[in-house]
Amino acid sequence: MSKALDGVRILDFTHVQSGPTCTQLLAWFGADVIKVERAGAGDITREQLRDIPDVDSLYFTMLNHNKRSVTIDTKNPEGKQVLEALIQKCDVLVENFAPGALDRMGFTWERIQELNPRMIVASVKGFGPGPYEDCKVYENVAQCAGGAASTTGFDDGPPVVTGAQIGDSGTGLHLALGIVTALFQRTQTGRGQRVLAAMQDGVLNLCRVKLRDQQRLERNGTMKEYPQYPNGTFGEAVPRAGNASGGGQPGWILKCKGWETDPNAYIYFITQAPVWAKICNVIGKEEWATHPDYATPAARLPHLKDIFAEIERWTMTKTKFEAMQILNKYDIPCGPILSMKEIAEEPSLRKTGTIVEVDHPTRGKYLTVGNPIKLSDSPTEVKRSPLLGEHTDEVMAELGYSPEQISALRTAGAI
Ligand code: COA
Repeated sequence: MSKALDGVRILDFTHVQSGPTCTQLLAWFGADVIKVERAGAGDITREQLRDIPDVDSLYFTMLNHNKRSVTIDTKNPEGKQVLEALIQKCDVLVENFAPGALDRMGFTWERIQELNPRMIVASVKGFGPGPYEDCKVYENVAQCAGGAASTTGFDDGPPVVTGAQIGDSGTGLHLALGIVTALFQRTQTGRGQRVLAAMQDGVLNLCRVKLRDQQRLERNGTMKEYPQYPNGTFGEAVPRAGNASGGGQPGWILKCKGWETDPNAYIYFITQAPVWAKICNVIGKEEWATHPDYATPAARLPHLKDIFAEIERWTMTKTKFEAMQILNKYDIPCGPILSMKEIAEEPSLRKTGTIVEVDHPTRGKYLTVGNPIKLSDSPTEVKRSPLLGEHTDEVMAELGYSPEQISALRTAGAI
């Protein structure tokens, strides 16, 4: 079966996490992704957090599936020529170097346009234009500067970063959308363009509801669904809301049977208004369905702590999975806190290709997260990440270099 991005060639100049997540997605949709790395070293993540000596790390392998790897020294004059040939042959150049690095290599936007006016140049940077535009940025910096950390955690504790890589993988996703949109526009204009996804912007986009709350707070001085209401105090900025739900239906994380020894024996419980009577029945508080202090969402707001304490008395008598089964029968929205171990072993995720086992020549079998976006006409087949420079000769031959020329370039240290 053909793939959605068949025929699209990506010159992948990305490294670490943000850029590689983007180009991995494009590869899963069928693009030919040619990853350019430095000979002898490669993407720094190949050797970071290694669990097996001298073998590409899981950090690298899980972010670089379905790509080809070529080694080019882009600071070597002959290496530069190879890169120029690639720019002329590809549709998109994706990079997430520190600000200015591509220009310092000699590949300014103007130069790239001279070489290939149809080229789309897509970049992840930490910040957009402004006071921090020259800064190098990693995941947690973006989480802090994008508003996630100040709004995550509990009221009486420090800001907290989340395990979800919203700065890196989140921005990679934003960039991928920018790229396919630019490719679509190119079908009309015939021209390439620059695509920028700044990590601060990407995180803020994902924290949009918190900017909503900032304005609600400034107007009314309080927010009734926050745990600070009614007894705590609100300051000038959106406070950390613990596990409160970000939407209009109050929710909280509650203990389940076994919580004393299992750190993940918890369930997320949402007291959705339309199923309030059913919740009262399930937890044995039938009288709350009609009691004036509990019958309506507005009446319940000042009592949320007591309500969740009462529901927790019930959830603590059940495992998270037993509670799920019972609550789902009544359409009460809830979710088990799943550990990574439980997710890795979940058969339904294996069946849909969301968790995939991949075989690798030096590492052996490992688990990875497959494509979370499923296209019915462009199914994803997850293929192992390339070894460093595995496809250099193949790609050079496609560019028209003879075996003798390739060997001379290798001797000169250009590839
Ligand atoms: N041949 C020759 N030189 C190469 C090369 C190649 N194939 N590939 C990279 N380089 C050079 C670059 O030109 C650059 O050289 P310069 O500084 O002399 O201009 C150098 O390698 C290092 O690149 P840089 O991006 O600065 O790497 P770093 O390890 O110092 O910084 C980041 C890493 C992630 C902090 C930085 O790249 C960054 O801020 N990126 C943008 C934001 C981002 O994506 N962050 C999230 C990462 S998950």
